[in-house]
Amino acid sequence: MLPLLTTHNLSYHTQERLLLDNITLTLHFGQKISLMGRSGSGKSLLLQALADLLPLDNANKIMLNKNGKLIPISQISATDYRSVVALFHQSPNLSDGTVLENLHAPFAFKHHRHHSFDKAWHLEKLDKLGKTDKFLAQPIHELSGGERQIVNFLRTLQFNPTIALFDETTSALDQDTAHNLIQLVLDWHNKNKALIWVTHNPDEQHLLKAESWHIEHGVLTF
Ligand SMILES: Nc1ncnc2c1ncn2[C@@H]1O[C@H](COP(=O)(O)OP(=O)(O)OP(=O)(O)O)[C@@H](O)[C@H]1O
Ligand SMILES: [Mg+2]
Repeated sequence: MLPLLTTHNLSYHTQERLLLDNITLTLHFGQKISLMGRSGSGKSLLLQALADLLPLDNANKIMLNKNGKLIPISQISATDYRSVVALFHQSPNLSDGTVLENLHAPFAFKHHRHHSFDKAWHLEKLDKLGKTDKFLAQPIHELSGGERQIVNFLRTLQFNPTIALFDETTSALDQDTAHNLIQLVLDWHNKNKALIWVTHNPDEQHLLKAESWHIEHGVLTF
């Protein structure tokens, strides 16, 4: 079966430094990857590159499976690409307003125009993360770091991406809530989806039953 996504010799550099060094990877349908590496090794940059959020010299180095064919992403509209590949940012930008308003906010984007907001879906997930409907009315500026991560997680997961790129999604959560969130990720995942999970916590790799990739100084090893 053709893979879901590939990169071939993908690099990213500034004038001074090579930050991603000739990364060639294959992400298969159903695959779960845990990506580890020291702070500053390039984990977030790699996820940003895969999410088409870095100005790469040659974006054709990323190919995405579209209707059973591998297509260079330069031939895929940003709208289409973002509806398939979702980045769960390490430092999410939440706007002023309430939790509910922030969960609603992405519906303003064109690539989400085919979805409609499902409050019951959010309440069910929030319940599993120890939150009631009162949480929806809370102003963002009053949230703790972990609560902001919960909002960021649900805001992106609600669009049911095919490839999910999680960047330290549980780093500010207590252990129980982190484990419950990972269970929600496992509920979302199936044989047609793939995920990359960036973490500094080896326990999370075990919980996800994920394969291990490692990055050091921008060099990816499997
Ligand atoms: N926009 C940028 N311009 C220049 N250098 C950058 C940029 N973004 C990141 N870097 C550098 O690239 C390296 C990799 O950064 P990255 O954010 O990918 O690290 P990381 O592995 O995610 O680390 P952490 O575990 O701390 O989140 C770092 O040394 C960082 O300073
Ligand atoms: Mg990072």
